[in-house]
Amino acid sequence: MRKALKILKWLALLGVVVIIGLQFVRPARTNPAVDQSQTIYARLQMNPQVASILDRSCRDCHSNTTRWPWYSNVAPVSWFVIDHVNHGRSHMNFSEWGSLDNRQAGKKLEEICEEVEDGAMPLKSYTRLHWGANLSPEDTKTLCEWTATERARIASP
Ligand code: HEC
Repeated sequence: MRKALKILKWLALLGVVVIIGLQFVRPARTNPAVDQSQTIYARLQMNPQVASILDRSCRDCHSNTTRWPWYSNVAPVSWFVIDHVNHGRSHMNFSEWGSLDNRQAGKKLEEICEEVEDGAMPLKSYTRLHWGANLSPEDTKTLCEWTATERARIASP
């Protein structure tokens, strides 16, 4: 019995040491500088309702203005969070929208509607912790109507 207790104590100590050790592996948490003239908000026309949905549900992973949560400081959770943000930005970045030509922008807009209609975005791992980011059917409709309008507008010279 006493021996079992001793082993347990050692295992607990080992656990603590490992968790502390993990904290030294710190992938970079970045928020690159934003040129306001290049953002999706400057490049496209949108009403405040659309802007607020993008801001509330997508911005943390699809812009350079991520609101990093406290747990993004704590390994190993931080590794997953940082990876999602980097991956999200690499697919679509609201802060660098100006780097897309009209054809590429039209394609991204099309994908925005598809992803939200499929319920693939925002990611489930995100909405589980950010309840406010869930989209109502009304939000999805608003986004899709907006993407259709903007696609038509930027497609016609
Ligand atoms: C928790 C992070 C996260 C949130 C929040 C999030 N996304 Fe994503 N998004 C990703 C990641 C990661 C990818 C790339 C991998 C994938 O396709 O699953 C992605 C990919 C996409 C793509 C595909 C782009 C391409 O070129 O392939 C679209 C479109 C998209 N997201 C739209 C949205 C929209 C719209 C919202 C808000 C309603 C949103 N996302 C919220 C992380 C996120």
